[in-house]
Amino acid sequence: MIESLTDTPLTERLSLVAGVYSAVSEDDRLRLVAGSRGETFGVAEAWKRELLHQLAAGPCPAAELAAQEHAARFLAALTSGGWLVTEVGREQGLLYALQPTRRPVPAPSPTPDQLILSRFAIVHRERDGRDLVIESPLAWARVHIHDPALLGLITGERPGSVGPGAAAQAVADRFRHDLYQCGLAVPVDGVEDEVFHLRQWSTHELWFHQRSRIGQRDRLGSGYGRTRWADGMFEPLPARHEPYPGPAVPLPAPDLGKLRRVDPPLAAVMEDRRSIRVHDDDAPISLSQLGEFLYRCARMRIDSGPDGERQLGRPYPSGGSVYELELYPVVRLAAGLPAGVYHYDDHEHALRLVRGPGPGMSRLIAAARRGTFEQSAPQVLIVVAARFGRLAWTYEQMPYSLVLKHVGVLYQTMYLAATAMGLAACGLGGGDSETLNEVTGVDYTHESAVGEFLLGSRPAAR
Ligand SMILES: Cc1cc2nc3c(=O)[nH]c(=O)nc-3n(C[C@H](O)[C@H](O)[C@H](O)COP(=O)(O)O)c2cc1C
Repeated sequence: MIESLTDTPLTERLSLVAGVYSAVSEDDRLRLVAGSRGETFGVAEAWKRELLHQLAAGPCPAAELAAQEHAARFLAALTSGGWLVTEVGREQGLLYALQPTRRPVPAPSPTPDQLILSRFAIVHRERDGRDLVIESPLAWARVHIHDPALLGLITGERPGSVGPGAAAQAVADRFRHDLYQCGLAVPVDGVEDEVFHLRQWSTHELWFHQRSRIGQRDRLGSGYGRTRWADGMFEPLPARHEPYPGPAVPLPAPDLGKLRRVDPPLAAVMEDRRSIRVHDDDAPISLSQLGEFLYRCARMRIDSGPDGERQLGRPYPSGGSVYELELYPVVRLAAGLPAGVYHYDDHEHALRLVRGPGPGMSRLIAAARRGTFEQSAPQVLIVVAARFGRLAWTYEQMPYSLVLKHVGVLYQTMYLAATAMGLAACGLGGGDSETLNEVTGVDYTHESAVGEFLLGSRPAAR
């Protein structure tokens, strides 16, 4: 039997959600603001301001607040606006707290008998906290679980066992009702897996979409964007990837002045660009072509800024000028370059051998070939990896979405350079991210593959 869920009456305490400011306008209206969200609550009478002070100071028993003169309607308005955290407990202590993150959109009444946890809801422990939290991108509130016994109530469609007694059942009913109201629990025969606009989302993708964008949630306290949260806690990663110890192959650099004169015009390059998935193995890509290609797309340019400071940047744009992407040319066939997995040293414009041909390299090439449904293997597969910490040191919540944007920017840069050079190019949408780590020996959470790009000589017929 679960002690905390045994027979004692439920208690309810209210407090203001975090990050709320109140203001009184020139015409004496009371306004609450939290980030981009704001609501006006009529004349700023003294009793309203006093009530807000009480709610801001900490959780207050709901019954005592409601008993104050005029208070019930004001409290109801604050509740409908999503300005109040509701703590539900027993004499023995707190059970859970319902914390609105935006204006509530209550679910249709009555609460169905058969409920199940939403497919989009996730239970996790907060960073720096002990409580578990249930939240979902589709819910208007998150629920802090103080008593882990409650978790037994959310695992299936049937009400969980809460021990004997009417009051224990009241806890279960109230908890399930609250989860349903805020969108964390859904009817068993609901639409979550039936309508296309919900069915199309996997849990992680909907979370990623919501969490990497600004929302009202983000403004209610949690950091978002370029916060430099790690400053003073962790050393930033250097701009240059640690050079691999393998032999270096210096790459020829093109004459950019000449390229400015002889390259096809941008309009022609953009219009002629096509994805070409087969290569001419009788006349493979050469070392000098690979060198020119990498130089045009991804070398590190070191310039002086307006105040003489050193400015690092590659030919493609990158959020925060951080340049977290690393290029690993996996060379199957190239004139003048032995096969192997190389790392492109963007500072020295050189290739460094990471690993010669072997099972890891074969798996990378085979996965790329399967990705194009072609029988032939690419001459060069450029695996694009991200050093996540470069971005994650500075940005919160959005660094991975920035990585993927950068992969897109780099793909187009590579497509255009390859087209201008008469090479065959094709970006890939998915790939194996673990094999590269086996080959490089670098930890997956530090750096792993986020993109794949095929490059080779262009067959005459294409
Ligand atoms: C991000 C991205 C992912 C892609 N993924 C693949 C892929 O996995 N396999 C493939 O054969 N082509 C892939 N392509 C190439 C597209 O199929 C191609 O761009 C599209 O069919 C339009 O043809 P075009 O590039 O010749 O204009 C990808 C292109 C991009 C930009």
